[in-house]
Amino acid sequence: MNLVVNGVEHALDLDPRTTLLDALREHLHLTGAKKGCDHGQCGACTVLLDGRRVNSCLVLAVSQQDADVTTIEGLAEHPVQRAFLEHDGFQCGYCTPGQICSAVGMLDEMKQGWPSAVPDDDVDRQIRERMSGNLCRCGAYANIVPAIADAR
Ligand code: FES
Ligand code: FES
Repeated sequence: MNLVVNGVEHALDLDPRTTLLDALREHLHLTGAKKGCDHGQCGACTVLLDGRRVNSCLVLAVSQQDADVTTIEGLAEHPVQRAFLEHDGFQCGYCTPGQICSAVGMLDEMKQGWPSAVPDDDVDRQIRERMSGNLCRCGAYANIVPAIADAR
């Protein structure tokens, strides 16, 4: 199959059971996306599929033949990545690639007016709720939220 990652097309010969996360990490050696739980619970593996954030541990690579995959490696110059550096939005850094990919997708969702249970003018709570699928075991949320708010 062909997988387009960060604008580059790759020809891959994969077992059909291979997840997108394993295809990225084990076959393309793009190790930015992390494997935390491998069960869709932690968000460490978040990447963008045609601009929408997904847990790549829950997606079969073979189903993404025509998709445009963006990983943290493709966001090196992105303002969200810069904001995380400026706000020290991490401690060990394990969750950070997923946090940044998720934040990029989330900010786009906000821009498009996707609804949330939290009032629109409470930006910090909006960010916390919309980012609730990305866990940080170091508890760096106090810096992650301002980083995303700044990038917004
Ligand atoms: Fe995919 Fe945890 S590794 S959600
Ligand atoms: Fe360590 Fe988030 S920075 S898990």
